Amino acid sequence: MSDSNNSLTVRDNRTGKEYDIPINDGTIKAADLGQIRTSDDEPGLATYDPGFVNTASCKSAVTFIDGDKGILEYRGYPIEQLAEKSSFLEVAYLLVHGALPTKEQYDAWVHEITYHTFVHENVKGFMQGFRYDAHPMGMLMASVGALSTFYPESKNISDPENRHIQIVRMIAKMPTLGAWAFRHAQGKPYVYPDNELSYTENFLSMLFKMSELRFEADPRLVKALDVLFILHADHEQNCSTNAVRSVGSSQVDPYSAVAAGVGALFGPLHGGANEAVLRMLRRIGSMENIPAFIEGVKNGNERLMGFGHRVYKNFDPRATIIKKACDDVFEVTGVNPLLAIAKELEKIALEDEYFIKRKLYPNVDFYSGLIYEAFQFPPEMFTVLFAIGRTPGWLAQWLELTQDTEQKIARPKQIYTGDRTLQFVPASERWK
Ligand SMILES: CC(C)(COP(=O)(O)OP(=O)(O)OC[C@H]1O[C@@H](n2cnc3c(N)ncnc32)[C@H](O)[C@@H]1OP(=O)(O)O)[C@@H](O)C(=O)NCCC(=O)NCCS
Repeated sequence: MSDSNNSLTVRDNRTGKEYDIPINDGTIKAADLGQIRTSDDEPGLATYDPGFVNTASCKSAVTFIDGDKGILEYRGYPIEQLAEKSSFLEVAYLLVHGALPTKEQYDAWVHEITYHTFVHENVKGFMQGFRYDAHPMGMLMASVGALSTFYPESKNISDPENRHIQIVRMIAKMPTLGAWAFRHAQGKPYVYPDNELSYTENFLSMLFKMSELRFEADPRLVKALDVLFILHADHEQNCSTNAVRSVGSSQVDPYSAVAAGVGALFGPLHGGANEAVLRMLRRIGSMENIPAFIEGVKNGNERLMGFGHRVYKNFDPRATIIKKACDDVFEVTGVNPLLAIAKELEKIALEDEYFIKRKLYPNVDFYSGLIYEAFQFPPEMFTVLFAIGRTPGWLAQWLELTQDTEQKIARPKQIYTGDRTLQFVPASERWK
């Protein structure tokens, strides 16, 4: 029997029986419903929850989101403070280790990551084997998964030291793989990492360096990209993180689990919205077309891409930070003419009853595509940038999973709707 003040009493009208089910952390255990059954040989009651809209799959201390209040925190720190005052590698340390580093810990972490940016030459060999027009996300997914074959010891996931080195390797090598996928599509030689550069400077160097001895990126661009990585570093149990955890629950190595996360992120419902925003802005084309476009949205003909969020119903804190980063980037690259259209759309939408009533605000993707375009990234690269930023989050969540004694292999139930008791007739008789 549970504490009656902290429990749910369920009456099964099929049998008239009542059950007391404990409530902890605002949840009931789905397994507790299993005792509710009409007879001993019937299966117990289960929940049906496609897309996990109201099911907690884990306990996690990594990221907190309050969608109504527009709050996003990593390990208890507000995203606004981290974006303004921290760096991507410090945030990566925070996510993975659960606390901010001391100076010695930070220096050691940066050193480790910097000295693991190179990949085995054979990785370069097989990346070069992709078709000339291979999508960089496909290349990233395949190559990060293939790293498991270079580090077979990575399957020893119960060994803390082994877990640590694989985490370092993956955070270090993702930019190398992502940059090489980009160079591949351009038919340009792959650029090796430069260990004298910071994480984000080195990434830009691997993307854009040509014959100069050292690629020197504008510090304002480096900072803006670093901030974008921070903003994407984790977002609790989203589709790709759930994929990493689900695959990781089989106790496979972390490269395979992260490859699954990259695959999930590749989907247009997850990582692809900023590309859709750019297409929309281009289609609108000029200021005078905005009113007709907004009317079309309000009539339900289409959506205002980059607006609305499943969780954030007040504002997306990441969008506010990105808007500021936009101004910094355009100071260097010159203003993208689409920015004026985006700002006008936002202004109109925020004052319009249709959007106010439905709590539709700009999300992280509304401005990020404009920034990426200013860096001269083609749209296919946008999701690669997201994946590089999200890697520490995936790994922090994976690490938590490996140490969570309540976790089991992910294996949802189903409601079977197919045939039963058919009798098989061999093809030789069916096709007579
Ligand atoms: C993000 C998104 C999928 C969230 O969807 P959701 O929480 O399931 O919300 P719903 O689809 O139920 O929408 C609720 C209402 O707002 C409307 N709505 C939601 N997003 C809208 C948008 N971007 N433009 C216009 N109307 C929108 C819906 O039509 C619906 O209106 P109704 O009540 O009259 O039917 C959705 O807002 C969307 O498609 N946004 C555009 C794509 C995008 O920017 N995605 C990136 C997310 S980071």
